Amino acid sequence: MKDKLYIFDTTLRDGEQVPGCQLNTLEKIEVAKALESLGVDIIEAGFPISSPGDFTSVVEISKAVKKPVICALTRAVKQDIDIAADSLKYARKKRIHTGIGTSDYHIKYKLNSNRDEIIERAADAVKYAKKYVKDIEFYAEDAGRTEDEYLARVIEAVIAAGATVVNIPDTTGYCLPQEFGEKIKYLKDNVKNIDKVIISTHCHNDLGMATANTMAGIINGARQAEVTINGIGERAGNTSLEEIVMILKSRKHIGIETGINAKYLYKTSRLVSSLMNMPVQPNKAIVGRNAFAHSSGIHQDGVLKRRENYEIIDPVDVGINESSISLTARSGRAALKHRLNLLGYDIKPKELEPVYEKFLAVADKKKDIRDEDLIVLVGRKDNGENGGKIKLEHLQVLAGKSTIPMATVTLNIGGESFTATSSGNGPVDAALLAVKSLIKHDVRLEEFLVQAITRGSNDLGKVHIQVENKGSIYYGFSGHTDIITASVEAFIDAINKIV
Ligand code: KIV
Ligand code: ZN
Repeated sequence: MKDKLYIFDTTLRDGEQVPGCQLNTLEKIEVAKALESLGVDIIEAGFPISSPGDFTSVVEISKAVKKPVICALTRAVKQDIDIAADSLKYARKKRIHTGIGTSDYHIKYKLNSNRDEIIERAADAVKYAKKYVKDIEFYAEDAGRTEDEYLARVIEAVIAAGATVVNIPDTTGYCLPQEFGEKIKYLKDNVKNIDKVIISTHCHNDLGMATANTMAGIINGARQAEVTINGIGERAGNTSLEEIVMILKSRKHIGIETGINAKYLYKTSRLVSSLMNMPVQPNKAIVGRNAFAHSSGIHQDGVLKRRENYEIIDPVDVGINESSISLTARSGRAALKHRLNLLGYDIKPKELEPVYEKFLAVADKKKDIRDEDLIVLVGRKDNGENGGKIKLEHLQVLAGKSTIPMATVTLNIGGESFTATSSGNGPVDAALLAVKSLIKHDVRLEEFLVQAITRGSNDLGKVHIQVENKGSIYYGFSGHTDIITASVEAFIDAINKIV
């Protein structure tokens, strides 16, 4: 039988510490429920003493979520522990996560203390928390830079005091994978009561090694990993949940499994990204926009022949409908033919060559070849569900301070013009709602990303949009000096791809 790795999600605590990512209680409940559906074992719901908002969120998440253990963070301070215990009163399964810095940096320069006193404070905090809750996790903050021999003494003392889980954080993201793995092994070999507890990893990504360090910890005996969705967290972030889950799924010989339902990974990633206003980097492993996009001709041809030629994970397994073949100047005939087939064109081999030549000429000038460009190349009109592709004919917005944002949009759909006016919570929202009221597809905005190319106020704004329709994701793009026009055009670009 495979060993189980417990997934401890700290998106709502370490992840939520990121400036600009703060969520209100309702949003946190939405994320907590998504984490429950995903199958995480423990949800770190907040740091209750830090603010009344964090306290309330832990209370409300405890009421809303049934299956996972709800965990509250504290310092090794009695008042923190009292408040954490109170915040967990409605939790069906509860855990207090208490701890203290153990590296010489923390002991001398943060806590102004000494090694022996820190061991005493650590054990006292665990004993005190045990009055309230059976399940106590202890963190040795900055364990990554703590000398192994001393760390082993701390860990032995907190286990004797009643800890059930011991967390070994690489708080500053300093360790190399081999060092971190050896640290976990050292504790397994040298702490005499270590078999009574689960060892946890909590790795930060300052040097881009959080996932590698977590894996080294797991391989050397850790059976809980502290992770966040999309790897968000303090500074460069934490280990990302989706990476650990998919490593263990793809590399079965490791012999460890999680209870995560990977089909919900992409959906959960989008939810967290949109609620926290944190775009996912396009090349992010597993959930980035380009994680399953192939652009070079050789790769596209290989993937079309057999997906496994260039993909180690089936995108469907993480909730993405299919791999995407982006058409660029490096694409080959196979990719062009594939896209034309998707658009409903059955191109015979001898018809393909002249189209491919024209395609290369356009692709040399344009970075992103759109479906409309291809339709022009093959010289036929499309026959989309809307009776023709949608075009933006006219856009007028009213916006400003103390004004209700309004937008009037005229679309050309299949040669006919249609106009609608909508209000919204901003001019972009109003304009997109007006477009939505004119089309028959039921679309939901999944991602909205605005980028400036240079930095001046006269800059060209680029808008990337992803919309969802009947479970499939469609990608749209536009660039314009008017950001609202770019947004509407990108939205229409995505809608036009719904075949
Ligand atoms: O990075 C860290 O050490 C932490 C602890 C509070 C667990 O986030
Ligand atoms: Zn942390």
